[in-house]
Amino acid sequence: MIETTLTGKTPDIGEENIKKLMTIFPEVVTEGKVDFEKLKQVLGEYVDDSNERYNFTWNGKGRALRLSQTPSLGTLRPCKEESKNWDTTQNLYIEGDNLEVLKLLQKSYYGKIKMIYIDPPYNTGKDFVYKDDFYDSIENYKRITGQIDGNGKPISTNTETSGRYHTDWLNMMYPRLRLARNLLSENGLIVINIDEHEVTNLHKLCTEVFGESNDLGTIIWDKRNPKGDAKGVSYQHEYILLFAKNKEQFFESCTMVRPKKNAKAMLRKAEQIFNKVGKTLTLDEANAEFQAWISSQKELSGGEAAYKYIDTNGEVYRTVSMAWPNNKKAPEDYFIPLIHPITRKPCPVPAKGWRYPSATMRELLAKNLIIFGKDETKQPERKYLLRDNMYENIPSLLYYGGSDTDMLFALGIPFDTPKVVNIVKEHIQSFTEPTDVILDFFSGSATTAHAVMQLNAEDGGNRRFIMVQLPEPTDEKSEAYKAGYKNICEIGKERIRRAGEKIKEEYKDKENIENLDIGFKVFKLDTSNIRKWQPDYDNLEQSLMDYVDNFVEGRTEFDVVYEIMLKYGLDLTYPVDEFTIAGKKVYSIGYGMLMICLDNEITTEVAKGILTKIKELSPESSRVVFKDNGFKSDSNKTNIKEILKSGGIEEFITI
Ligand SMILES: C[S@@+](CC[C@H](N)C(=O)[O-])C[C@H]1O[C@@H](n2cnc3c(N)ncnc32)[C@H](O)[C@@H]1O
Repeated sequence: MIETTLTGKTPDIGEENIKKLMTIFPEVVTEGKVDFEKLKQVLGEYVDDSNERYNFTWNGKGRALRLSQTPSLGTLRPCKEESKNWDTTQNLYIEGDNLEVLKLLQKSYYGKIKMIYIDPPYNTGKDFVYKDDFYDSIENYKRITGQIDGNGKPISTNTETSGRYHTDWLNMMYPRLRLARNLLSENGLIVINIDEHEVTNLHKLCTEVFGESNDLGTIIWDKRNPKGDAKGVSYQHEYILLFAKNKEQFFESCTMVRPKKNAKAMLRKAEQIFNKVGKTLTLDEANAEFQAWISSQKELSGGEAAYKYIDTNGEVYRTVSMAWPNNKKAPEDYFIPLIHPITRKPCPVPAKGWRYPSATMRELLAKNLIIFGKDETKQPERKYLLRDNMYENIPSLLYYGGSDTDMLFALGIPFDTPKVVNIVKEHIQSFTEPTDVILDFFSGSATTAHAVMQLNAEDGGNRRFIMVQLPEPTDEKSEAYKAGYKNICEIGKERIRRAGEKIKEEYKDKENIENLDIGFKVFKLDTSNIRKWQPDYDNLEQSLMDYVDNFVEGRTEFDVVYEIMLKYGLDLTYPVDEFTIAGKKVYSIGYGMLMICLDNEITTEVAKGILTKIKELSPESSRVVFKDNGFKSDSNKTNIKEILKSGGIEEFITI
C-alpha cells in the first residue's frame, strides 16, 4: 500500500517533462536539472542554434510557455443549485479563466478528449482579451470577474494602437493551446475558428504546438456577406483550422468525411419517380423528370448533383470516366477493349489506357458497375451508386451565410457572436464517435453544448460536453444585462437548459429520447479549499494554528471531496455516494474507487466498516482518504493503516 499526502498543486508539467527526457537521455539530467551543453552534444548535428534559423517568436513567448507549466493552486467547486440533473448527467459546465481550468483538468482528462472545438476572441480590437497574471492568477481572475471589490475590472480590449496587439493575443493563446493539446486523445483533434486578424499567427502557433505534420487543413467559411467597414479587401470569409494530436492515429479511427446532406432526400425522390416506371413513365422519362428535379435543387453540392441517373433497378447513380489519369501511358494489360453487351462489338479504349487492370475491369463488369452507351461507339464509364456513397470528403470551402439569431431570439438568449449550431454539429458528427467527449474552453453562449445535444438526439449518441467560460460581466447597456444576465456564464447555462428542453420536445417521439442527457454539472474556479495549501507567509504561526481546522471557512465537505477527485485524476462526473460508517460520514466515489472520510475522531471501527463497504462495491482497486488530524490518536492511525493494508487497499492518503 502506498502512503501519500495530497498536495494542492496540479501536476508540475516541467518536472514530468524532465522525467520523460531522462528516459531517453539519462546522462543529461543530474539532481533534477538538465545539463543543456551535454544535451546539445548528445543531439549532435541535429541542433540548430544559429541566430538565423527558421523561428516563430514574439515578446513574452518564454514567459507564456512557463505559464503553461506552472501548477495551479486553485480548485473547482461544485455548484449543485445551478446545475441540471446533477445525479445523472455526464456533462460539465465550468466557470473560470480557461488557463487555470485547463491546468486543473490535466489529471482527470489527460488524453481523454476526442475533439476540442474553440472560437477564441478574434482580436478585432473590440473583443475581450483576458490579461493573465503570472503572480496570482486566481486573485487576478476574481478581480476581473468582479468577485472581489464587487464591480470587476473594466473589460480590457486590445486595440491595434496598443503596440502589443498581436503579442498580447499570442501570449494569451500559446499557454492555453499547449495545455489543451495534453487533454486530446491520441486520435483527437482541435478545430479552431478565426478571422483575418490572427489567422496567420494562429496557423504558425498551431504548427508549433501540434506539429506541422499534424495539420489536417484549413476550411474557408464563405459567409456570403462582405464586411462593410473594409479598408482593403472586404472579407466575407472566416477560417476553420484543424489540427490532429497525431495525424496517423487520427486517420486510424476517422476518415475525414461528412454525410452528403441531401442524399436521403435524393433517394426518396428517385424512388417516388421510379414507382411510376411501367405505369405512366418510361425509364427515359423517369430519368428526365429526376434530372429536372436535380437542376431545380439549389441546395445540392456539385458532388450530390452528379448523381442524376436512375437505373433499371431504381438505383441512383453517377458515371465517372475510367481513363488512365497520368500523362505516361498505362501498361499493356490496361488496354483490353470492353465488348458492348448488346451489339457484341468492342467499345473505344481511352488513348492512354484504362484506369484499372483487366482483372479489376472483369470484377466491375460482374458487379454491374460499368455503364455502356446505347451502342459500342460510346466509351464505357464507371458507375457509382449513391446508396454506396452516402459520405463525401470534407471540402476546403464552406458556404453558409445564415446565422442563429432568430433561433436564439426565440430561446430568449441574447448573445452577439454565437457560432452556427449546424456547422459545429456537422464537424462533431464527422470527427467523433457516439461516446466521445467534446471540450470547448471559449464556450460563450454554449453553441457547442447545443450542437452536442442536437446531434445526440438525431443519432442516438451519448457524446458528452465540457464547456469552460469566464464569467465575463455583461455590459450594463446590453440586451443581455437588461434581460437579467449579469455575466456570460449565466447566458451559456440558460441556453443549455432551454435548448435541451426544446430538443427533447422536438424529438419526443423518438425511441430512447428520455435518456438524452440535457443536464450539466456546474463547477466554479476558486482558491483551494484546503488551508495548508495556501499559508499566509507573513503570519506563518497563525497559519499553522489554523491547520487545526484544515478547511477554508465557508467551504463544505462536498467542495473538498471534488478537490480530491480532481487532484487524484478522477472524472468529475463519477457518482459520489454517501454512507454512515461507525457513526462517521464516508463518501464513495466511482463505486468504491475512492473512499473519503473527512470526519474527526476516526477509530479502527471506521476503517473496518470502510473495508466491508469496499468489498460490497468491489471496485478494481481502491484508495482511502482521511484528514491528517482526523484520527482519534496516533496509535489509531497506525492501526488503521495496518487494517487497510491487509485489506488490499492500494493507497492510503491523508490531507
Ligand atoms: C468568440 S466568443 C465564443 C462564442 C461561442 N463560440 C458561441 O457560439 O457563443 C469567445 C468567448 O471566450 C470567452 N473568453 C475570453 N477569454 C477567456 C478566458 N480566459 N477563459 C474563458 N473564456 C474566455 C469570452 O468571454 C467569449 O465569450
